[in-house]
Amino acid sequence: MSSGRFITLEGTEGVGKSTNLKFIESVLQQHQISYQLTREPGGTPLAEQVRELLLANRDEQVADDAELLLVFAARAQHLEQVIRPTLATGDWILCDRFTDATFAYQGGGRGLSKEMIGQLELMVQRGLQPDLTILLDLPVEIGLARASERGELDRFENERLGFFVKVREAYLERAAADPQRFAVIDASGTLEQVQQQIAEVLHHYLESQETASE
Ligand code: TMP
Repeated sequence: MSSGRFITLEGTEGVGKSTNLKFIESVLQQHQISYQLTREPGGTPLAEQVRELLLANRDEQVADDAELLLVFAARAQHLEQVIRPTLATGDWILCDRFTDATFAYQGGGRGLSKEMIGQLELMVQRGLQPDLTILLDLPVEIGLARASERGELDRFENERLGFFVKVREAYLERAAADPQRFAVIDASGTLEQVQQQIAEVLHHYLESQETASE
């Protein structure tokens, strides 16, 4: 049996990840693809606990390196318990954020060295990469205005505008460096326009997979 495909969804705050995740699921279901929906940080009981540690607002300043290592600790557990075993059965993984978020938030936002992040990536992923990454892109002012309507903000959502500008730049930089894997979606339009773009990307991708397996 061939290995399943690994699809990730990325973007800064308020780009519409949750709504569009449901839309991606509906497309996979239409194509009768058996998949597991999961997220990062999180996706296993231990990794979800690490997520809580990461997102909690606290008086203590969280050291950037501690944040980075927690993210990768959760990821190591998620890979071992969920992602690798699922892909091995031939099922697909649809993951709400993955390591591109680390390059964007810890690399771009916090300013940590991308080489160091790359070393942890190699250690934990051992070469495993998403097959397709959908990046929802939106000017950060618009995204933050949307996110602020949600009520209580977590430790990342409480960051300043400048942090998210750097996060977005880092995402776009990664997308430009790997156009084969990334599909950048302009998330500033109506929901219909955004989903139209996502549908095109997915149909194109699914077609390429069918051709490859013929
Ligand atoms: P969410 O808003 O998509 O649920 O993600 C939770 C937060 O975690 C989000 O603000 C981005 C942050 N995050 C990182 O800082 N680094 C990472 O590697 C991941 C996966 C998420």
